[in-house]
Amino acid sequence: MNRDFEFFNPTQVFFGRSAMESLPGLLALYGENVLLAYGGGSIRQNGVYDQVIQALRASGKRVTEFAGIQPNPTYAKVLEGGRLARSCGADLILAVGGGSVIDCAKAVAIAAVEDGDLWTRHWLEKRPPEEAPLPVGAVLTMVGTGSEMDGDSVVTNEETKVKTSCWDYSLYPRFAVLNPEFTYSVPEYQMVSGIFDILSHIMEIYFSPEDEDNLSDDLAEAIMGSVIRSTAAALKNPRDYTARSNLMWASSLALSGLLSPSKREDWEVHQIQHQIGAYYDCAHGMGLAAVSPAYYRLVCPYALPRFKRFAVNVWGIDPAGKSDLELAHAGIDALAAFIRDSRMTANLRQLGLPDDSLLETIAATCNLRKGGYHPLTRQEVLRVLRESF
Ligand code: NZQ
Ligand code: ZN
Repeated sequence: MNRDFEFFNPTQVFFGRSAMESLPGLLALYGENVLLAYGGGSIRQNGVYDQVIQALRASGKRVTEFAGIQPNPTYAKVLEGGRLARSCGADLILAVGGGSVIDCAKAVAIAAVEDGDLWTRHWLEKRPPEEAPLPVGAVLTMVGTGSEMDGDSVVTNEETKVKTSCWDYSLYPRFAVLNPEFTYSVPEYQMVSGIFDILSHIMEIYFSPEDEDNLSDDLAEAIMGSVIRSTAAALKNPRDYTARSNLMWASSLALSGLLSPSKREDWEVHQIQHQIGAYYDCAHGMGLAAVSPAYYRLVCPYALPRFKRFAVNVWGIDPAGKSDLELAHAGIDALAAFIRDSRMTANLRQLGLPDDSLLETIAATCNLRKGGYHPLTRQEVLRVLRESF
C-alpha cells in the first residue's frame, strides 16, 4: 500500500432476511416527516412497499410520497423532489429501490436545502454542498450501483445531454437495509445489468496503477471471483439466496472505498457509458458491458502484467504456451464470453442504438480521465465506440 489514503464509510448496514426489523428503530432517530422516494412501482408489486409503510406507521411518521423516479433520474425530477421535500418539511428521505431511486434521493437531499443552479455548482463544477443535505436512508431492491453505501449521485440533465455524478461524504446514506430476498423479483435483464455494473466498478479500480503488491488487488480478485460464481447460480435459480446475498454484498463493497487504497482508479468505461446514457436511455450496466471488451483490448498492451494476472487469477486461464499478449487477450475473451453466456448486452446495437450516427458526438463530449493505464484520446474513444457497435 505505497500511496497514502483516507478511508471512511459512514453507512450503517443491516443485512439479511431480518434486515427490515431494524427499520422502525432507525426511523425513530429522525423527525416525524419522511419523504418516501421510489420508482415506477415495482415495490408495490413485490410487497416491499407494504413492509416499508408498516415500519413507517409503527414509527408514527407522517409520510409524503415522491414516486415515479425513472431509471437514470433526471435533474428535472430532482428539482420536483426538492420542492416536495420543502413543502412537507422532510426530516428524512427514505429511498426504496435501486441506484436510480437512491441517487435521486441524494440529489433531492441537496435540492431540499439549497437554492440556485445546483446542476452547475455540484454536478458540473463538483463543488461540495453549501448546506448540510437532508439525511437519506436506503432500502435496496436491486443490486449493482453500490449507491446504498457510497456518496455518489448520478443524474442526467436532459436539456444539456450530460449525465454525471456529484460526490460528497454528506451524501452517503445514513443507513442501508439490505435484504437479498427483495431482489428476487428483479427481471433477468436488470439483474445481469446490475451484475456487470459490479464487475465494472471493480475493474475500473483494478485496471489502474499502482501495481505494487497491495491488498486492494487481492480483494478485487476475490470479489470478482465471487460475482462470477454467483452469476451462474442466480441465472440458474433467481431465488438462490446464497447467490443473491453474495451479489448484494459484493455490489455494496465494490464502491464502498474498500478496494481503492493505493489505486489511482480509471473510470473511463463509466465516462463512456454515461455519455451514451445521456443520448440513449439504457440500462447502465448493459452499456458498460457493451463497450468494456473493446476498451480493455485497446488498453491491455499498456499494462500486460495486470491483464495477465486478470486472466490467470480471475478466469483461471492456463498461461502455458501463451505469449504475454495472448494470455492478456485470453482474459478479455473470457470476459466477453461471460457477457454472452450471462445474457448481457454484447454491443451497442443490442443496447438499442439504431445506428452509429451519434458515436462521434458521444466521443466528442465524453469526459476523459487520467487515472487508468492508458488515458484515451477522443479518437480512441471513438474507436472503442465503433468497435463496440
Ligand atoms: O422503477 P422501479 O419500480 O424501481 O423499477 C426498477 C427499474 O425499472 C427495477 N427494479 C428495481 N428493483 C426491483 C425492480 N424490479 C423488480 N423488482 C425489484 N426488486 O429495475 C429497473 C432499474 O432500476 P435502477 O434503479 O434504474 O437500476 P440501477 O440500480 O442499475 O441504477 C442505475 C442508475 O444508477 C447510476 C446509473 O448511472 C443509473 O443512473 N449509478 C450510480 C452509481 C452510484 N450512485 O454510485 C454508480 C454507478 O456506476 C451508476 O452510474
Ligand atoms: Zn456503474
